[in-house]
Amino acid sequence: MEKTIYFAGGCFWGTQHFFAQLVGVKEAVTGYANGHTDHPKYEEVYTDTTGYAETVKVVYNPERIGLETLTDLFFCIIDPLSVNRQGHDDGTRYRTGIYYTDPSEPEIIRKVYDREEQKAGAPLAVELEPLRNFFLAEERHQDYLDKNPEGYCHLPLKTFRYVRLLQEIPLYLGEERNPVARMANAAALIQERMGFFWTGFYLADGETLVLGPFQGPAACMRIGFGKGVCGTAWKEGRTLVVPDVHQFPGHIACSSLSQSEIVVPLHGKDGKVCGVLDIDSDQLASFDETDALWLEKIAAVI
Ligand code: SME
Repeated sequence: MEKTIYFAGGCFWGTQHFFAQLVGVKEAVTGYANGHTDHPKYEEVYTDTTGYAETVKVVYNPERIGLETLTDLFFCIIDPLSVNRQGHDDGTRYRTGIYYTDPSEPEIIRKVYDREEQKAGAPLAVELEPLRNFFLAEERHQDYLDKNPEGYCHLPLKTFRYVRLLQEIPLYLGEERNPVARMANAAALIQERMGFFWTGFYLADGETLVLGPFQGPAACMRIGFGKGVCGTAWKEGRTLVVPDVHQFPGHIACSSLSQSEIVVPLHGKDGKVCGVLDIDSDQLASFDETDALWLEKIAAVI
């Protein structure tokens, strides 16, 4: 049995490309939703007078991917507080929204929506409404980024690599329970798919972090609580993005080539930080909030 949900997430080229990457999504097509004219054309919608939102119709197999997961992933690619604007795109056609056709759906969507609203600490600008109408966009707007790989995309391109990785890691790790085995393959997949300089784990061992599975040059084996970027992320229990490691007080240089770094805490079953995922780049400013968002999701599945 198939199900269908409609997501307006700003420019539909990037939104479609994103949903098309998801395992369990059978079809993602671009179109125009919830406007007040008949059979709108792109040029008409573009004038911002038709009431339509650029929208992606997502047909999925609920046994492989749930509505809650789809909604959760949708929130990873929007700024839910932004009114009529996503990235550089401005206008009511770029508003965000989730449009449903089945009255049982809003309750499921609400769970994620309310969680996001709480996180944001302000009312979200994302519409949650029944679908009133939807018209398919013209052929040239279907699979736009496949047809134009260098074409405009309001989403950072690494988003697409991250979402594939997020789905791939659980497939590789399967039911394996040994944490070393899980971390070893996770480090290899992250490093290979994202092309980082160093990817590895440090694990809490008494008052220090001890080196765990990693990919890349040999690294220091012990880091004290509150020391370096890793020890600070452990102590503060939050992700640290360091655009220039030379500016970070107490940074521990395992390799002189390392220029920027991101460290994501790993939480044990008791909710306590039990280690960190550390990723280094040999370029300055390689990491930002996009990396933090996706690597936190990836850390949670490892
Ligand atoms: N730079 C880290 C140490 C680990 S290496 O990057 C692999 C830090 O300051 O904690």
